Amino acid sequence: MSHNKDVKRTLKNERLEYPIKMMHAYPSVNVGWGAHTMVGNDARSLGMTNALIVTTGLKGTGIVETIQGVLKAAGVESSVFDKVTPNPKDFEVMEGAKVLAAGKFDGIISLGGGSSHDACKAIKLVYSHDGQDVRTFEGAFKATKANKIPQLAINTTSGTGSEISCFSIINHTDKKYKMALFDPNCTPSKSINDPLIHQCMPGDLAAYTGMDALAHGVEAIASRLGVVSAYGPGLSAITLIFQNLRQSSMNRNNDKAVEAMVWAEMAAAYSFNSAGLGLIHSMAHALGGLYDAPHGLCNAIGLVPVCKFNLPAAPERFKMMAQAAGVDVTNLSDMAAGEKFIEAIGQLKKDLGITKTFKDLGLLEKDIEPLSRFSVADICTEGNPTDTGLQDMIKIFKECL
Ligand SMILES: [Fe+2]
Repeated sequence: MSHNKDVKRTLKNERLEYPIKMMHAYPSVNVGWGAHTMVGNDARSLGMTNALIVTTGLKGTGIVETIQGVLKAAGVESSVFDKVTPNPKDFEVMEGAKVLAAGKFDGIISLGGGSSHDACKAIKLVYSHDGQDVRTFEGAFKATKANKIPQLAINTTSGTGSEISCFSIINHTDKKYKMALFDPNCTPSKSINDPLIHQCMPGDLAAYTGMDALAHGVEAIASRLGVVSAYGPGLSAITLIFQNLRQSSMNRNNDKAVEAMVWAEMAAAYSFNSAGLGLIHSMAHALGGLYDAPHGLCNAIGLVPVCKFNLPAAPERFKMMAQAAGVDVTNLSDMAAGEKFIEAIGQLKKDLGITKTFKDLGLLEKDIEPLSRFSVADICTEGNPTDTGLQDMIKIFKECL
């Protein structure tokens, strides 16, 4: 293998990789058509009487107003902090934490997709640490105080998994990259996944977020962390995505496909929450930070090149994924089956009409090296099955152009 020459090994890290697995808890989740109508009871069960709703606003959908109405009927007052933007920024988190501290709130509700949940998790950490700078929580296990407030996560997109995970991804606006905050204290107290709400998502967003969920499943199964219990939910997610993402993205009234994608995104999240991710996400975090590029679209573009790079490191796991995707692997070696799986991902992307490259997202040749440095240093790179050095990363970015 020639692609990992610039990965330095020392005696210290020449050890059995990840001998102790850390299995992270999930919140309880209400899933199903109409689950949002139970939000009042859910909020009350968490002790909420006055909640701050953290959201991008979901303008034009009526979702925020509906949720406020359901809360009100259950005797829960609410206010809205809607200054979160896609790829949430550090200053938005600090402002949200100030709003939270200034009011008499006893609960916080994230309402939206990954951006709203990630921002809300970070606001919860900052608030629980008396206004400490969100940037100090970058990395793993940085919380030193228990959460002071419960979080209810109402999810609206079928991809993020953030409504049940312990990750929060926040944009460092000075250095222009996305920080990963990885801490069990980020995990919401309770979550809601209502397909009726997911159905409000437009078809192109459904395609992007579905490919994000696919990247979650693929990266968790291939992860060098070797969490065997991630295989079950990850493979289920892959099956559901290959059977339903096309239909759900082309026809948002296809109830069966829309609901299946809700289950798929949750299964993928159950998979990566403990098994970690890999280079697809490392690259998406770097691109999201520098160009504010959509997360799901970055992952859709990165999936095939990164899978090709990783196939030789874990061919047996790629064969499992091929089978889950419905690929005929009869008489095929692990490598050949893995190649077929990667072809199937390419076909899925094509069928969804995703033709953009990183160039379309604004990637400039001169930015490839700094982006590659951020990607190699990203927390997700730890899970990547193939040793990855700077030159490997530069090569993959160039392929994605
Ligand atoms: Fe993701």
